[in-house]
This record gives sequence, structure tokens and C-alpha cells, in this order.
Amino acid sequence: MRAYDLIRKKRDGFPLSAEELQYLVWGATTGGVADEQLSAFLMAVFFRGMDKTELPAWLNAMLHSGQVLDLSGIPGRKVDKHSTGGVGDKISLPLAPLVAVCGVKVPMVSGRGLGHTGGTLDKLESIPGFTVDLSIARFAELVNRLGVCLIGQTAEIAPADRKLFALRDATATVESIPLIASSILSKKLAEGIDALVLDVKVGRGAFMKSLDDARVLARTMVDLCKSVGRGCVALLTDMDAPLGSAVGNAVEVRESIEILRGGGPPDVRELTLRLGVEMLIAGEAPGVGHDPLLARMRLETALADGGALERFAQLIEAQGGDPRVCDDPQRLPQPKLVREVRVDRSGVLTALDAEQVGLAAVELGAGRARKEDVVDPAAGLLVLKRVGDEVRTGDVLAELHARTESRLDAGEARLRGAATFGEAPLPRKPLVLERIA
Ligand code: URA
Repeated sequence: MRAYDLIRKKRDGFPLSAEELQYLVWGATTGGVADEQLSAFLMAVFFRGMDKTELPAWLNAMLHSGQVLDLSGIPGRKVDKHSTGGVGDKISLPLAPLVAVCGVKVPMVSGRGLGHTGGTLDKLESIPGFTVDLSIARFAELVNRLGVCLIGQTAEIAPADRKLFALRDATATVESIPLIASSILSKKLAEGIDALVLDVKVGRGAFMKSLDDARVLARTMVDLCKSVGRGCVALLTDMDAPLGSAVGNAVEVRESIEILRGGGPPDVRELTLRLGVEMLIAGEAPGVGHDPLLARMRLETALADGGALERFAQLIEAQGGDPRVCDDPQRLPQPKLVREVRVDRSGVLTALDAEQVGLAAVELGAGRARKEDVVDPAAGLLVLKRVGDEVRTGDVLAELHARTESRLDAGEARLRGAATFGEAPLPRKPLVLERIA
């Protein structure tokens, strides 16, 4: 087989066979196909797409380019959640222990923040001592014992995606629905899960800016996941404004602990519960069956009786962290400098652009402009006004946390650019826009 012929075939709009796709994935994994040929193939897919037989074959090849965990020895169904990335999206932190305490196993392999979006691993690592670098054996042991473990992607999981994603990043071929769907699923399915719940974000702070695009991505991923024999459901959720109040790392852990205590911002609590319901049903949680109301009651009880918080503390301890942060969040990294940003007019906050707020967090030191940047665990911000709130001159819009005055200046400038004020509130969008199963 010659990569040249396969590129030409795809370029001219003909579908490739499973063997041909496998050859290209082999080439990406081993270096057997040159970078320029892989890049040209990716560009051909960008324009030509992949059909309904190509996509599962491509996914299978990507998934099996590395280690696929076998958790079948652990009793119960294993279910994970994946978010396509947002600002203030700390949902995995409260959701994973909450679902685990309700009887569904949650093996979660998460990512780091890049660009304006945050990453679960960076948030967890702001807990003193917490490690996300565990062996696969320890990962499986904790999933079995605690029902939950959160780690980072190992070099052995989907190596073809590592290579192809780097090439896509450099060749303007990231925004291709078949490539996004297969990239995400190759990593998630390698965890050995039975089902996946997707949170596909839509709006200014999301990858997918329009509902139509998000719908196509969700439908593609749900169908693709099912075609390889795993359960899948997607919620399309609003990401025009940040989720909750906290954007950063330690600040988001703190807000997650509030959720696990039964409090916290209503949108974060609601989305945690909505995704939790889907996970309990997909995971056939004991005593829940297929009843969303029973599932929701089970989740609300675990938040109210402290069970979910206790499981989070056990998880932190098992992963080397200081579980006392659950009772005393002051033990989380504290900011060196704090600045309040005040509103300079009266009216209504009509928009708070999530992408700009995410970039403000990066300016403050909470995120990465490049992969190799180091994040400041204590940096970030608390947004104190919600879209739709009335404001008066002098009200505090946000509290910024950083290490230096120059970072505070840069963060403040971004944040001010994110806020739009008007005279009257605009109609509120629902948090969950659609469900795709
Ligand atoms: N996240 C991924 O893991 N892959 C993509 O292609 C896009 C987002």
C-alpha cells in the first residue's frame, strides 16, 4: 500500500477500505508514513469527510493503536463523561465521586487546559499532593475499590491520536467533525468503559459556536460510539457565559466542594445533576433502573447526606492529596494578590463572553497559552454577577487572583472586554439545550 494512492483516493472523494485506513493509522503510530503525507490526508478528510463505514473503521484503528484497558474483571458497568471543553467547567470534579457513590464505576482519563478552556487535571493538581500519574494497575484498583479514579492520558493510550492531533493543530485541520469525533472517542473508549455521556458545549466559549454544528458533532459521536458497541448519550449545553462563578484551578476545586456540600452555584449543581442522571441510567445504577426521577433523587440524597463529599475525600487521599481541603478549603493554594473589578455604569449585565473570561484566566496565570506553560494553581477569578443581573456603578463584577500586578492588569483588561451592559435583560437561554441519544 502507498500513502500517496490513499491520499489521492480521499482527495478525489472515494471512500477508503478498513485496511487502507488501518495502514494510515499504523503509519501515524510508527512513523511509517511521513508527516507531510499524513497532513495531506487529514486535509483531504477535512474537505471530503468520512462516510458511515469509514468512520467506525478509522475509530477502531485509532483506538487499537495503543493500550485498551480491560476493566471487565471489575463488577458493574463503567461509565465516563466527556465535555468538549468550556470555561468554569469543573463538572467532572463533583460528578465523578457523586456518580461513584451512587453505584456506577467511573474510570476517568482527563485532559489539561489549553487556550481559553480549563482542564480537569490542572484543577485536581491544585490540591496539595494530588497526583494524576498513576499506573494502570493502581487506576483499576481504585476504580474497583472506590468506584472512581481520575488520571491523565498515558503515552500508551491512543498514540495515533497524539501524532495526528499535533499535525492537525499545525495544519488547520482541527475543525473537522469526523476527526474530532474519532479523536475524542479513541481516547475515551480506551478506558474500557461500557458507556459514555457527552457534554457538547455550544456558544461563545465553546469549540462549537452554533447549535447546528454542535448537533452534528453530537449525533456523529453518539452514532459512532454505538456502532462500536458502547452506549452513548449527549447533552448539548450552553457555553455563552462561564459555568458557575469560579474560573481557574484551586478556585474551581473550592466551588466543586461547595457543590458536594449541597450548595454552590445553581447552574453548576443543575448540570452536575443532569449529567449524573444520564450516567446512572447508562450505568444501570442499583435501584434506579431507567427512571430519571429516581436517578435524580438518588443523586440529590448523596449530595445532601455528605456521601458524595466523603467519596471525594477518599479519592483525594487515595491519589496522594490532602483530603482536609474538603473541610477546610483554606488549605488550597491561596492567591498572592486579589483585585476587585467594579462596574462603571448602572444597567443590566446582558452578556459575559465565556471565551474572553477564559482568556482573562489565562492572563492571570491559571491557564496555558502553549502546551509547555506552567499553570499557577492559585490564579483565577470569581465572577460575582450573572448574566441578567441588574448592576449599579461601583458593584463588584469579579474578584481577580494572581501573582503580580501586571497579570492583574492584563486579566482586568480582558474581563472588562468580556462584559456587555444594557438597559433590559435579554431572555435567558436554557442550560441544557438538547438531548441526543
Ligand atoms: N479534543 C480532542 O481530544 N480531539 C479533538 O479533535 C478535539 C478536541
